[in-house]
Amino acid sequence: MASLFLPLVSLFLILTLSEPAPVPKPWPLQFHSTLYQNSSLGALALIDLWYDFPNGRNFNIIQSQLGELLYDLEWTNGTSFFYTLDSAKKCSTYHFDVGILRPDWLAGANYQGQKMVDGFLCNVWDKVDFITYYEHVDTKMPVGWVFYTGTTLHVMTFEVGAVLEDSKWQAPVYCFGEENESFNSNLKQSVGHTVENWFREIKSLMKT
Ligand SMILES: *[C@@H]1O[C@H](CO)[C@@H](O)[C@H](O)[C@H]1NC(C)=O
Ligand SMILES: *[C@@H]1O[C@H](CO)[C@@H](O)[C@H](O)[C@H]1NC(C)=O
Ligand SMILES: *[C@@H]1O[C@H](CO)[C@@H](O)[C@H](O)[C@H]1NC(C)=O
Repeated sequence: MASLFLPLVSLFLILTLSEPAPVPKPWPLQFHSTLYQNSSLGALALIDLWYDFPNGRNFNIIQSQLGELLYDLEWTNGTSFFYTLDSAKKCSTYHFDVGILRPDWLAGANYQGQKMVDGFLCNVWDKVDFITYYEHVDTKMPVGWVFYTGTTLHVMTFEVGAVLEDSKWQAPVYCFGEENESFNSNLKQSVGHTVENWFREIKSLMKT
């Protein structure tokens, strides 16, 4: 009995003591990523994400399939501008109590093991039933994530250290006039749930 028991105990100790669960790599302080999004309703979009934590700003440039090109510019003071740069000159300003995501926003996520995602072997974490996050085991690059709503993001490019030039972070002048109610309802009709979902998801994410 002892001859069987001891090896089992040693195996148990090796498994439990030697391997702490992997933790997600914090986001780089600055990066540019292109993301392919499939919303929970099946609406597709290409998103240019410019994350710039030291400067307290985050940009999502969202091209809906055969639809509008929308700029979602977020400042860490909680102000977000949502606008188009076409002749319609639409802009909506939102205020959120939280700023942009912190680089360590995934801290405390629960490790779920490994899985093949988009052809990459990934470590998988869940954070408070809100998001499932996939990171490439070999390179520690994010491969994608899935929001609890079912919206899926696939990371197509990830350029660490890339920064968008300052002039591009200037919201257009029509963002600083009267709020355009017609724009708000238009926005919802034209891009539908892609933007609404994105917004809801990102904002709740920041609160976690
Ligand atoms: C998008 O996701 C839906 C399920 O939510 C799926 O049926 C559809 O095939 C996906 N489309 C693409 C292009 O991946
Ligand atoms: C937050 O910062 C942006 C960019 O500097 C600015 O345009 C906006 O007015 C600020 N919002 C508040 C509430 O101070
Ligand atoms: C408000 O938005 C509507 C719809 O996009 C547009 O036609 C109108 O010119 C805008 N009004 C102002 C004052 O910007």
